[in-house]
Amino acid sequence: MSDQSFLVHGPRVAVRRVSFQDRKEIAALDQESAALHRPWIPARETTPDAFREYVAKFDRPAHKGFVVCLRAGGAIVGGVNINNIVRGGIQSGALGYVAYASTTGHGYMTEGLRLVVAYAFTALGLHRLEANIQPGNTASIRLVERLGFRREGYSPRFQYIDGAWRDHERWAITAEAAGHAAADGSA
Ligand SMILES: CC(C)(COP(=O)(O)OP(=O)(O)OC[C@H]1O[C@@H](n2cnc3c(N)ncnc32)[C@H](O)[C@@H]1OP(=O)(O)O)[C@@H](O)C(=O)NCCC(=O)NCCS
Repeated sequence: MSDQSFLVHGPRVAVRRVSFQDRKEIAALDQESAALHRPWIPARETTPDAFREYVAKFDRPAHKGFVVCLRAGGAIVGGVNINNIVRGGIQSGALGYVAYASTTGHGYMTEGLRLVVAYAFTALGLHRLEANIQPGNTASIRLVERLGFRREGYSPRFQYIDGAWRDHERWAITAEAAGHAAADGSA
């Protein structure tokens, strides 16, 4: 993947939109990471049809899908989605993110998620991002704490994952808290 397709980059990683061409690489990463991902996120199908439908979702204005890649070589080391984007006077979106078994624990997601947050508050004009995280998901809570998210509340039985309705903590950050100018809420 050429450098031109990257939207933003930091010292070690760069962020670009996910595309259908990423299917095989992501399928292999998902497969090696089943134990890391369960029960924190819903299982994702990576058959050609399912993945085509998955990436087609990101053609809609309410959803954005990104991959976090190593600047050296371009390998995918993580993924970040912004879902359920609401415009007008709310300007908010809900984050989903993953690392993989072979890429976790190196700080790539801290750098990559920070880049996506900055991109959301500048290029996308959002004002607030939330992350709904199960209380036992300490790696995810540590990640958003490092980026300055605050715990806003607790949502019992928030999302159906891996066969059960799971309680989630609601963590969020505003543009101002992340050091960006606030959008004007009129988009
Ligand atoms: C949540 C998740 C994305 C966090 O990924 P991660 O690999 O911990 O995040 P990073 O890549 O930023 O790595 C951070 C860790 O690497 C360590 N690290 C090692 N070298 C580092 C370096 N050079 N720079 C920064 N951090 C480094 C950090 O200390 C940190 O470990 P700690 O949290 O134990 O202190 C990952 O655990 C995951 O995919 N979980 C399953 C899916 C999931 O839960 N998604 C979120 C649902 S809400």
